[in-house]
Amino acid sequence: MTSKSSLIVFAILMFIAIVHAEVFDITKFGAKPDAEISKALSDAWAAACSAQQPGQLVIPNGRFLLNAIEFKGPCKAPIEVKIDGTVIGPEDPITIPQGSQWITFSYVTGLTVTGSGTLDGVGGAMSWPTDDPTTTVEKGSPLQYNLNFNFLKDSSISGITSKDSKNYHANLLSCTNVTFDNFHAVAPKASPNTVGIHIVWSKSITIKNSVIETGDDCIQTGDGCENVSIEGVKCGPGRGISVGGLGRNKNEKPVKGVFVKNCSFTSTENGVWIKTWPHSHRGDVSDIHFEDLTMDKVDNPIIIQQDYCPHIECKKSEPSEVKIHDVFIKNVKGTSNSPEVVKLRCSSSNNGCENVQISDINLTYDGNAGPTIQECQNVKPVYAGELVPQGCAAA
Ligand SMILES: *[C@@H]1O[C@H](CO)[C@@H](O)[C@H](O)[C@H]1NC(C)=O
Ligand SMILES: *[C@@H]1O[C@H](CO)[C@@H](O)[C@H](O)[C@H]1NC(C)=O
Ligand SMILES: *[C@@H]1O[C@H](CO)[C@@H](O)[C@H](O)[C@H]1NC(C)=O
Ligand SMILES: *[C@@H]1O[C@H](CO)[C@@H](O)[C@H](O)[C@H]1NC(C)=O
Repeated sequence: MTSKSSLIVFAILMFIAIVHAEVFDITKFGAKPDAEISKALSDAWAAACSAQQPGQLVIPNGRFLLNAIEFKGPCKAPIEVKIDGTVIGPEDPITIPQGSQWITFSYVTGLTVTGSGTLDGVGGAMSWPTDDPTTTVEKGSPLQYNLNFNFLKDSSISGITSKDSKNYHANLLSCTNVTFDNFHAVAPKASPNTVGIHIVWSKSITIKNSVIETGDDCIQTGDGCENVSIEGVKCGPGRGISVGGLGRNKNEKPVKGVFVKNCSFTSTENGVWIKTWPHSHRGDVSDIHFEDLTMDKVDNPIIIQQDYCPHIECKKSEPSEVKIHDVFIKNVKGTSNSPEVVKLRCSSSNNGCENVQISDINLTYDGNAGPTIQECQNVKPVYAGELVPQGCAAA
């Protein structure tokens, strides 16, 4: 067979596969608008997940209430969850069973989450007791993530909106080859801990064409992240796109390969941010690329912070033992709310940060109100291209 005709055969087979994807509409499993749907959802999931052919679980247009759900695999075939409706969580976190998150997907390979729906976690007075993003909020019941993804493989999430999560909007643990495309996370600027997407122990993760506007970091890549690509993300309000915080716990895995490209930051606390704790355990961060970024009134456009300590209990006098090396910062433009537009506060341990390269940056202080500077501690960056401001004179 020629490659062309085998392509046609393949296309026909794909077409048949798609046509045969069985639809599991939750309203056929007893879900009713404005009523609680966890039973209908888990019945629909059980049917779809055990089907031999690819299945599609549908949450149609409408307003549905949901206490909590775990969509657990493995499934017999690839599975799509299409969410077009608005799904509303319980206001009181106590309603969600102890140890569960609001919506969990786990152990599924070939999961597709699509649709234009909204998942409203109903954060608010009962979940956000303070507007201080640096407090830990464990008062009584733990606060749940809107979306929790554990051990997913070859999966994608697109189109949906996560609104007012009580805690992180999306948490990824031990996932491989997962893509977020056209994902939207939204919560008020003053909502604590509402990280857009938090990733740990995962590899080959892509986040693209997405809008994240919350009260905490837009995206956080924690320990054990490998090959994470973040492209075309609009961040703000929020606290920036970060690597870390690292070194707080023993035996953290290295972070290797984070690519933040073509992203924009609007009125965020930080732009791109690597943070490690002082007086820390050992750790390793390498192969970090921050490229083609636009900053609009950002407090700290580029920041390496090795004495990150949001709580009062850490010993700032002891250096961080997390090694940061091979960091490439290229083509970053825009405005800052502070004159120190580049802050490289590297640890005095491990010979400081190694191989930090900065090229083509143009960062002005609030629309040119004054000169800007770069700050370098325990690092000698390698500079190239046009630099506004000039690099650190003698690091
Ligand atoms: C990654 O997952 C996508 C589905 O989201 C799949 O099409 C692709 O083949 C996977 N890539 C690899 C390398 O397995
Ligand atoms: C990195 O991730 C991308 C997208 O998920 C994948 O295509 C690529 O093969 C991965 N590269 C490595 C070295 O794992
Ligand atoms: C950059 O990201 C924006 C979304 O913020 C997207 O529309 C645009 O196509 C991207 N540009 C490139 C060159 O990828
Ligand atoms: C830096 O940006 C400012 C403001 O946009 C602009 O006026 C200036 O020409 C730029 N400088 C360089 C060297 O590109």
